[in-house]
Amino acid sequence: KNNIYILAIESSCDDTSAAVLHNSKMLSNVVATQKIHEEYGGVVPELASRAHQQNIVPVVHQALAKANINKKDLSAIAFTRGPGLMGSLLVGTSFAKSLALGLNIPLIEVNHMQAHILAHFIDNETGKKPEFPFIGMTISGGHTQIVLVKSYFDMEILGQTLDDAVGEAFDKSAKILGLPYPGGPLIDKYAQLGNPKAFPFPKSKVGGLDFSFSGFKTSVLYFIQRETQKNPNFIAENLNDICASIQYTIINVLLSKLKKAVAQTGVKQIAIGGGVSANSGIRKILQEAEQKHGWKTFIPPFQFCTDNAAMIGIVGYLKYKEELFTTQEITAKARYVI
Ligand code: KG4
Ligand code: ZN
Repeated sequence: KNNIYILAIESSCDDTSAAVLHNSKMLSNVVATQKIHEEYGGVVPELASRAHQQNIVPVVHQALAKANINKKDLSAIAFTRGPGLMGSLLVGTSFAKSLALGLNIPLIEVNHMQAHILAHFIDNETGKKPEFPFIGMTISGGHTQIVLVKSYFDMEILGQTLDDAVGEAFDKSAKILGLPYPGGPLIDKYAQLGNPKAFPFPKSKVGGLDFSFSGFKTSVLYFIQRETQKNPNFIAENLNDICASIQYTIINVLLSKLKKAVAQTGVKQIAIGGGVSANSGIRKILQEAEQKHGWKTFIPPFQFCTDNAAMIGIVGYLKYKEELFTTQEITAKARYVI
């Protein structure tokens, strides 16, 4: 059991990805991002599943080639069972099942949300990995969750969004500003040049560890409508300050929820995951929290922040060691709670 090769497949949303891991070391991680959705300002499920259908074979071939591994040497196939878009999940699920059947090797189902958190256990340059228990915060275009991670496969949801995901709060605000999809990275870029306190937005009133971003999005919309009525060039003249203020408001929500989670659990190790972990503001504030609050924080390398198959592969490896295999009767699960 010391020489395990996992081929992992991820197809839950709009990225088709395949990765090969040797134990907990990543050998390859190929991601085909679907450009088609940009024109529509968001992911179109029907188009996503068709693109997965086109991409999956070349992406798997590339992952094997880059890893320099023959498929006959694979120990098991791991795949994302859910949560995600049903049509997208079906492509990866069917492909993984067929391949495992053809190669006569075990099949391992993976929860995408667990994978975002367990991505921290892929070998990395720092050599640092979180220790149990730790707090995981998954922030992306599809999810916003705070979980208490007691062990690899024992995670308790402490809070989650009641409406929009945090990535959507970024992307929808960007859309209001006329920025192309996905606007999160652009808000981040302009925010770095602006004054975060230029335009105060109201704080979310949701208590506990849950989140709500739909009210925030509406307040951005009304604010922009009001100001552009007074000055049609308001956005162009203030873009950096508007972006900085939006980012500041969102990050403050994330930070205050983390503080609450730490107070509630007494756990001071924080590991984040999901596309929004790439945000420069959240990275900075977490690094500061190490000194300020004595937290130990873990931020994944960029390629493991956004959706990728390497994170599915590490869960595959951890499950392989426990012989947590699944049967060919397995089906995709659009709503799949941790
Ligand atoms: O994890 P991911 O690739 O896909 C989902 O599962 O959703 O996350 C994509 C999300 C998008 O909403 C994108 O705007 C956001 O992550 N994002 C960012 C940044 N980079 C990606 N948001 C803010 N700042 C960034 N630098
Ligand atoms: Zn994701």
